[in-house]
Amino acid sequence: MKKKTIKKSILQISFCMLILACFIPDLNAQTTKLTLDLTKPGANVSPMLYGLMTEEINHAYDGGLYAELIRNRIFKDNKTTPEAWSLVRQDTNSKAAIKLIAATQENIPFDERRHAINGALTTCFRLTVEKADGRVGIANEGYWGIPVKPSTAYKASFYIKGTGSFQPPRRPGAQQPVTPPAPVIEDNTPGPITVTIESNDGKTVYASGTIDLVKSIYWKKYELTLTTGADVKPTKDARFVISTNRTGLYYFNLVSLFPPTYKNQPNGFRPDLMQMLVDMKPKFLRFPGGNYLEGPLITDAFPWKTTLGPLENRPGHNGSWGYRASDGLGLLEFLMWCENMNAEAVLGVYAGYSLNGDHVDAGPLLKPYVDDALDEIEYIIGDVKTYWGAKRAADGHPKPFKLTYVEIGNEDWFDRSNSYDGRFNQFRTAIETKYPQLHCISTIADAQYPTQKVTSGKKPEVLDEHYYRNSWAMWENASQYDKYDRKGPKIFVGEWATREGAPTTNLNAALGDAAWMAGMERNSDLIIMSCYAPLFVNVNTATATAPKAWQWDSDLIGHNALTSYGSPAYYVQKIYSSYLGNKIVPITAENIPTQPRPLTRRDSTDGITTAPLVPTVFYSATKDEKTGAIYLKVVNTTGKQQPVEINLKGVSKISPDATLVVIKGDKPDDTNTIIEPEKIIPVTSKIKVAAASFMRTLDPYSVSILQLQTGK
Ligand code: AHR
Repeated sequence: MKKKTIKKSILQISFCMLILACFIPDLNAQTTKLTLDLTKPGANVSPMLYGLMTEEINHAYDGGLYAELIRNRIFKDNKTTPEAWSLVRQDTNSKAAIKLIAATQENIPFDERRHAINGALTTCFRLTVEKADGRVGIANEGYWGIPVKPSTAYKASFYIKGTGSFQPPRRPGAQQPVTPPAPVIEDNTPGPITVTIESNDGKTVYASGTIDLVKSIYWKKYELTLTTGADVKPTKDARFVISTNRTGLYYFNLVSLFPPTYKNQPNGFRPDLMQMLVDMKPKFLRFPGGNYLEGPLITDAFPWKTTLGPLENRPGHNGSWGYRASDGLGLLEFLMWCENMNAEAVLGVYAGYSLNGDHVDAGPLLKPYVDDALDEIEYIIGDVKTYWGAKRAADGHPKPFKLTYVEIGNEDWFDRSNSYDGRFNQFRTAIETKYPQLHCISTIADAQYPTQKVTSGKKPEVLDEHYYRNSWAMWENASQYDKYDRKGPKIFVGEWATREGAPTTNLNAALGDAAWMAGMERNSDLIIMSCYAPLFVNVNTATATAPKAWQWDSDLIGHNALTSYGSPAYYVQKIYSSYLGNKIVPITAENIPTQPRPLTRRDSTDGITTAPLVPTVFYSATKDEKTGAIYLKVVNTTGKQQPVEINLKGVSKISPDATLVVIKGDKPDDTNTIIEPEKIIPVTSKIKVAAASFMRTLDPYSVSILQLQTGK
């Protein structure tokens, strides 16, 4: 053969081989196999594995779960501006003004500082009407709007009193009034006062009512119901207005408007949001934080005592996320929230460390804080014969609530003074001495902060670990608990999330979560509780009069004034806790495909130059001993279909009828939004399973739960 012909033949053969290589399956790519060992019962799944974590962040309560619709109802949100309030004048000929009147010397002259209702309601709002051509009033814009729905009864209430202008009495020697003297305004305040829910331009009234303002120098509370018509179209572009057409000085405080609440509970919750939580079947609620427990300053720590009782006694407090909390959702409401979900409380008690870095030294200085925590626990579980148990009964709930775990502080690893060891021990000793049935959780976990962990006294029984990661990090670390010491403390993963997408997370984040949860579930003999954070986000961006509603991207449930939705991650949480047995089923995995993780800046500091391989398939299985149901969870994080051979070792008989629940999407950044709330939701179908060994092909970017039925 000539040289040229040989070369040509070699080229032809190589080409054919290349074509063949494309079509013949890679003999090295072996079938991915999951073998569930059902020959003997595995370890117990923690009965409290899945729960919820909550705090006032992103307007989770005020402008969220707490159903109150009036923003800044006691006028304390801002010391100088009546945030969310404005003046309404039907006719520009009217002469009227609005003003904050506070019982403090800041900005307010002495002679106007005399309208406090009590020690909590110390700031009020004044409408001065010098001349009324048509109606004049005050409007509240709500939390990024007032939700209007058809055939809905709203309960409105407010304190009001009216006067004419007057010369206030002066202290001897006090400054004389400024000249020119204030105009004389006649007191025509007594009479009908109109209350409306109306469009922002005032042209459409959705619901209206009146109260009859009596002539009195004393504060009086008025209540009325406003009901919308059946033909009203839902909108959040509405405001709440209290108006008059008569001259005088009108003073307002504690202005409130409640729509129907979950189970009609007074001072209750938004039904749609509470229902979403109930549907997650959580076993516990970790509250009140998070950073919200600690407060920016020591004096801003969650003030549970002033969150109890009538709203008149709740002054609110500085929250930890840049806005004031009304405390309408106070300690009893947290507990009612638990009761609504049939969940128990996991109480975070303030442990003497706040976000600005200040701490209270262990010892006598810390004792008042320890006593405060003991009082709080007594309020929750004390018998009605105890001081705080009696208070709870007086607040309407004689029955003690369920409490097993108390967490001492929150993320005290930020406390660089290393004072947590002493503080933790002081709290633990006091709590366990008075309540031996309770278990204290250390907020510093050995694995995460080995140099700051609690070392004195006995080892903490439970450690709280927090993880906020991207999906790569979740996939890479999804099996971290497979290697944890079983003789050490139990683990509470008290805050975690895959942080991709804003304001709520996307499908890729849900795939990160699902992989991470599979790891926790497989190890739920050790991971006794876990909860995602943050739970809620009000999705409103800034307007001319209100700031952006959220402070933290990547949240689980989004809402505005009118509607709400779950992120793909929400649905992962929901199906993971709904399809869960009581025994862990050990799984042997073979040929799990991997993919290289992109290198990070951290890798370069750590000297890692080759991209580490991370799995693309994640799994866990549990069995319900009572029903014989097996729940197999499998996650495929790639955009390719993934065949998996599933073997049930030790099962001779399996029902051919199985249930399949799948959450999936086309692209990793697919997501749900307030306008497209159900793009990614679980889809349930019935499938046939031929035998105890079968093949399933996982959809691209999917989380699948297979419910298989064996004999018991
Ligand atoms: O979940 C948001 C914040 O993250 C929590 O308040 C805090 O505990 C953590 O740092």
